[in-house]
Amino acid sequence: MSLTSESTASLVPEVPYLPRDPRDYHPAIGVIGCGGITRDHLKAYRNAGYRVAALCDIDEVRARSRRDEFYPGAEIYTDYRTMLRRDDIEVVDITTHPPQRPPIVEAALLARKHVLSQKPFVLDLDVGERLVELAAKQNVKLAVNQNGRWSPHWSYARHAVAQGLLGHVTGVHLSVHWSHAWVAGTPFEHVEHLIMYDFAIHWFDIVRCLMAGKEVQRVYGSVARSPTQTVMPPLLAQALIEFPDAQASLAFDADTNYGRQDRTYIAGSEGSIQSVGPSDKIQQLTFMTPHGNWQPALKGSWFPDGFHGTMGELLCSIEENRTPSIDAADNLKSLALCFAAVASAQRHQPVVPGSVRTLPGSE
Ligand SMILES: NC(=O)c1ccc[n+]([C@@H]2O[C@H](COP(=O)([O-])OP(=O)(O)OC[C@H]3O[C@@H](n4cnc5c(N)ncnc54)[C@H](O)[C@@H]3O)[C@@H](O)[C@H]2O)c1
Repeated sequence: MSLTSESTASLVPEVPYLPRDPRDYHPAIGVIGCGGITRDHLKAYRNAGYRVAALCDIDEVRARSRRDEFYPGAEIYTDYRTMLRRDDIEVVDITTHPPQRPPIVEAALLARKHVLSQKPFVLDLDVGERLVELAAKQNVKLAVNQNGRWSPHWSYARHAVAQGLLGHVTGVHLSVHWSHAWVAGTPFEHVEHLIMYDFAIHWFDIVRCLMAGKEVQRVYGSVARSPTQTVMPPLLAQALIEFPDAQASLAFDADTNYGRQDRTYIAGSEGSIQSVGPSDKIQQLTFMTPHGNWQPALKGSWFPDGFHGTMGELLCSIEENRTPSIDAADNLKSLALCFAAVASAQRHQPVVPGSVRTLPGSE
């Protein structure tokens, strides 16, 4: 840790923000969907020494390419049902887009595999609840890949909150100012609520973590198109989130070409945390305590280490026979908040999370 004050160093407890690995559980893992994001999944798994035994994509070239680059010993499949018939595979990582994902998750659960689903988990909370019930019936874990939780600055902050180091959290304020124009010509350009849903789900989820179980009362959201944006979905989005005794705000300026910034501020009664940088990869976290300020030198970055965090958490939860912190049932609360923000942006009025069951526009 690099410190701004020696005395602060000795007074602030260690915060275990790095991903964890299971001690003796090293199952064969199957990956379904070998698209863009799986490069980070597989980088992280290879770095962690996890055992990927099978890769599946309806496009064989994609599955082959990932196998050749990361796991030359893995089998490739073009039909996930064939892959799911393998008894040796205990954990399945499902990375397809949300509209295609529920039948694959269902088939994996019916085959009694533990499942890690990419985010956003589902387009409909009732579909998600049915999958959660099926996982319980099959006695397997169903987790969601909210890898932002292991982005080093957010992981540090949420562990510090969980350890009570900030006392009572009264404010969480997060903003990102960057360009999301890279989606031009990709499937993401056709996601209607690209920023407030597909992107912001990590932010809605981390707000819930940082508020440590407080129930959201209402959310007010708004979206707009920037006059200079070159892709279809609106690139400006913001949300105000009300808690009984706290508040949170999110701001996304996804058509920012100068002065990129990614900022987190958490106000607590015993201490506050600020983390700022030009992107999620370069962040300087400052922990402001009654004893002074200090700046831990955090290791790693969201991509790919966040993917180590989520798979590691699922594997540890299986080994330790407990509910994973990224459990799908909990994730539905983050999605409920996100759906309410999207609905609020359409209605121009505050919305109570849970009252909107389906992502608006996906019905
Ligand atoms: N931080 C993050 O966690 C993060 C970042 C980017 C994307 N994502 C999410 O990951 C998901 C996928 O994103 P992507 O960029 O990899 O998309 P992509 O379009 O590059 O890849 C999707 C892949 O799924 C395959 N596929 C579709 N149906 C299939 C089926 N039935 N069986 C096997 N394979 C099938 C496609 O052929 C394609 O290769 C999305 O939900 C996205 O929101 C998450």
